[in-house]
Amino acid sequence: MAATLSTFAYLVAAVLFILALRGLSHPTTSRQGNLFGMVGMGIAIVATLLRPGMGGGGIGLIILALAIGGGAGAYIASRIQMTALPQLVAAFHSLVGLSAVFVAAAAFYAPESFGIGHAGEIHGGSLVEMSLGLAIGAITFSGSVIAFAKLQALMSGAPITFKGQHWLNLGLGILLVVLIIGFVASGSAALFWLIAILAFALGFLLIIPIGGADMPVVVSMLNSYSGWAAAGIGFTLSNLLLIVTGALVGASGAILSYIMCKGMNRSIINVLLGGFGTDAGGAAAGGGATGDRAPVKAGSPEDAAYIMRNAQKIIVVPGYGMAVAQAQQVLREMGDLLKKEGAQVEYAIHPVAGRMPGHMNVLLAEANVPYEDVKELEEINPEFADADVAFVIGANDVTNPAAKTDKSSPIYGMPILDVERAKTVFFIKRGMASGYAGVDNELFFRPNTMMLFGDAKKVTQEIVQALQRD
Ligand code: TAP
Repeated sequence: MAATLSTFAYLVAAVLFILALRGLSHPTTSRQGNLFGMVGMGIAIVATLLRPGMGGGGIGLIILALAIGGGAGAYIASRIQMTALPQLVAAFHSLVGLSAVFVAAAAFYAPESFGIGHAGEIHGGSLVEMSLGLAIGAITFSGSVIAFAKLQALMSGAPITFKGQHWLNLGLGILLVVLIIGFVASGSAALFWLIAILAFALGFLLIIPIGGADMPVVVSMLNSYSGWAAAGIGFTLSNLLLIVTGALVGASGAILSYIMCKGMNRSIINVLLGGFGTDAGGAAAGGGATGDRAPVKAGSPEDAAYIMRNAQKIIVVPGYGMAVAQAQQVLREMGDLLKKEGAQVEYAIHPVAGRMPGHMNVLLAEANVPYEDVKELEEINPEFADADVAFVIGANDVTNPAAKTDKSSPIYGMPILDVERAKTVFFIKRGMASGYAGVDNELFFRPNTMMLFGDAKKVTQEIVQALQRD
């Protein structure tokens, strides 16, 4: 009876997880999606505790682990800045990978407890599941640690490349498959640990060549790996829900990686082999078109207010700096005022603006910017030519024409928002610093560009005041 009830509860939880993914696919339904996910996870935890064979001591230990892990998770999540979410996600993925390694080691050394045979006589199928969980888990762990270090600026975001890197990664990948076959045939402890070491090294090697601007694809790819690692644990533990949940995370992460690759104009094969958008020994972060340049034209918030009051069509381009400054609310106020003056105001979203997928959409939704005013890159790009003003607020890489013109640039090939086609381009930023990819932006020096130096929120507030004054 308890077993049937637990299986039914797992089914309900799995359906709720699918509904959660569906809800998260649009800003209007994302809250509901989160709620479905939370309820599903609650049901899954209770159902697992009620599974037959779960002794009192086991339940006590699980509750203790839940309290420690849940407490730490709640504490971290309540304190984390929105802009630091990508590295938090990378850090959490690393834990999923590490637990897959631990579960595989536990199953290998205590197979009786898992009902998969006896020491030295583990069932063949279980050895396959165990070795896959181990390899994917170890790759996820070390890859996520490197992604975390890069995103947290604990190590340089510049690609680390060397000659023959792709071939080395490919060779190690093939060797890993050979070791897994050997392990399944022999059940050898030495091969088990060799797989672990090689997979840890491969995770590290796959992520080090990836440069700043390509990190979003890496985060979603590691998300997918962590899902497959969880599915691997599910097989070892014979837990159906973990297999379903892992597969959902793995598949949705893979789809997201594919969408991001398309958005960034990168090849998925290169992503899987590590080090894309870079040539060994070639481009590194930094540098864009340099040389003799016109002086930068800086303006004041009053200048900007004057020009925008006389504009018919204004396209706002938000980026990471808007998130840092938390300028979305005052930006919406500015948009409302300009609309009242009769201007058309639209918001252009680049797929990798900010530091996580959908970052700008979330912030604009939080500030109640109407969804119909928010346009994706393909839709808005043809409109810049008719725009009087492109109001670039804290964005940089996503507007940088080096992506179209400079083959040696780490962002070469990435589609960008064509802001330079507007009559006037405002860049609101604190100084002349480059963006995440470390590439200079020649647009700052163009004759139709006006720099508005300062914190994004402060500058926009001053523009709002100037608009209200007259
Ligand atoms: P960035 O290219 O990173 O540029 C942001 C700009 O904001 C900087 O140049 C900075 O210049 C300015 N800034 C920072 N704080 C500010 C503040 N308080 N007020 C005003 N300006 C401020 O941003 P982007 O155009 O949004 O591009 C995103 C980049 O991040 C891409 O390279 C993307 O690949 C990468 N990335 C994206 C993701 C995802 S999934 N979205 C994840 C990881 C990495 P100053 O210092 O001069 O002010």
